[in-house]
Amino acid sequence: MSKAAGRVKILTTIADAQTQSRAKRRVLVPTMGALHKAHDELIRVAREAAGEDGEVAVSIFVNPLQFEPGSDYNLYPRPEKADEEFCRSAGVDLLFRPSADEVYATDRSTFVEETSLSTTLEGKSRPGHFRGVCTVVAKLFNILAPDAAVFGEKDFQQLAVIRRMVRDLNFKIDIIAVPTVREKDGLACSSRNQYLNTEERKQASVLHKALQAVANSGKKSASEIVTVAGVDQ
Ligand code: PAF
Repeated sequence: MSKAAGRVKILTTIADAQTQSRAKRRVLVPTMGALHKAHDELIRVAREAAGEDGEVAVSIFVNPLQFEPGSDYNLYPRPEKADEEFCRSAGVDLLFRPSADEVYATDRSTFVEETSLSTTLEGKSRPGHFRGVCTVVAKLFNILAPDAAVFGEKDFQQLAVIRRMVRDLNFKIDIIAVPTVREKDGLACSSRNQYLNTEERKQASVLHKALQAVANSGKKSASEIVTVAGVDQ
C-alpha cells in the first residue's frame, strides 16, 4: 500500500500533538532524522500497517539523553528541510519535530530504565544509552499514542529492549520489526555512515561480508568461524 506525496502536518509542541485530531489507527516511526532509504522502508511498512484509513506519524528528535558524554550529539546531522521534503514525498501524514527544551524539563527527574537486556553488548560500552532510548520512546508513546510503532532490526538490541519495555509497562502498542536495509556493498544504512571517509567506508563493508561468509559456511565451532571470517587472533 502506498500513499501519494502530499501535505505533511508538522507539529513541534507536545500540547499540539496531544490535542491533534487523529485517524482511527496511527502507526509511529520514531527517528533521529537525517532520513535515508532505510527510513523509507520503515515508513512503507508503517503505511501498510496503518491501512487505508490510518495515518503514519514520524518523529524526528535527536535525543540528548541517549548520547554518552563526549559522543557525537552536537555533530549528529540535522538536515531539517531535506527531512521535511523526505516525509512529504514518502506520504507521511504527521511529522512531530520537537526541540530538546520541549521534550525535557530542566528539572526532569523521571527516567525509564530496562535493567536486564540493556546491560550487555552495546549497553556495556554506552552506559546510559538504553535508559535514554527507553525514556524518549516511552515519552513519544505517551505524546503520540500510536497503535503500533516500527523499528529497524539494524539496532537489534534496541528492538529487544523496547519490546521488553512495552511488555513490562503494558503499553498497548504493537512493535513491528523491519529487516535491515543495506547499501549495495552490504553496509547497513545508517545516518552515521556519512561520518566515514572513503577508506573507512570500504573497511566497514568487510563486517557484513565476513558474517555472510560465516553464515554460508555452515561452520559451528568458534575456531572454524574465526578462520572463515578471516579474523586475526
Ligand atoms: O533508533 C533511533 O533512531 C533512536 O534510538 C530512537 C528509537 C528514535 C530513539 O531516539
